Amino acid sequence: MTFTLWLLLWFCGVTLAQDVLPQTEETTETGSCFPNMCKFLKEFGAMKEKQETIKEKQEAMETRQKETENQVLELKKKDASNIAFSAATGGSGTLGPFNTDTTLIYRRVIINVGNAYNQHTGIFAAPVPGIYYFIFLYHATGSQVVNLTLMKNNDVVVATYDHKTSHDGADNGGNAAFLQLQQGDHVYVRMYANSHIWQNDHITTFSGVLLRPL
Ligand SMILES: *[C@@H]1O[C@H](CO)[C@@H](O)[C@H](O)[C@H]1NC(C)=O
Repeated sequence: MTFTLWLLLWFCGVTLAQDVLPQTEETTETGSCFPNMCKFLKEFGAMKEKQETIKEKQEAMETRQKETENQVLELKKKDASNIAFSAATGGSGTLGPFNTDTTLIYRRVIINVGNAYNQHTGIFAAPVPGIYYFIFLYHATGSQVVNLTLMKNNDVVVATYDHKTSHDGADNGGNAAFLQLQQGDHVYVRMYANSHIWQNDHITTFSGVLLRPL
């Protein structure tokens, strides 16, 4: 805007000057022109060149900025891929049987890298899309039913159970699965009604790890 205005004023000046004192024509590489005009054309050419150099520099800077942004994204991705947890139920003795299905809450955290597992709800929430691995193992008394499933949102993924028996003192079992998760998917262990597990700091556990972000 300022430049256009300046140009307009300059042209008026040239026109006036020409009216007052007639100027002689000159020959330059841009063809024949009045001295003022020649000077202007030369300056204009230099300015244009300068502007092009600035534009090139700006483009180079933008490219470099894009590269930096990509590197930051990669680093963020790498950081987000450190997801792993292991937790035990804590407490002591039998947990259950209850007359409704419950989510097993593993309150004693062993590790929780990335904080994707919630020790208060028992729910793991996938922070990034990827391939994950989960394993849950239980200890229980032999005289009661065990009926657990690994859940992905509202779907059963894998299950483990043990029937009521009078002749074995204790049971151990579990199951595991690889899962492809979207960001925000929930994974947890469901304990069905009328079943139970044995709890302490070390024996009934739930673990998960992100193998590969997608
Ligand atoms: C586990 O619980 C589910 C839901 O109540 C039931 O359908 C299933 O038969 C149970 N499994 C065993 C072995 O009791």
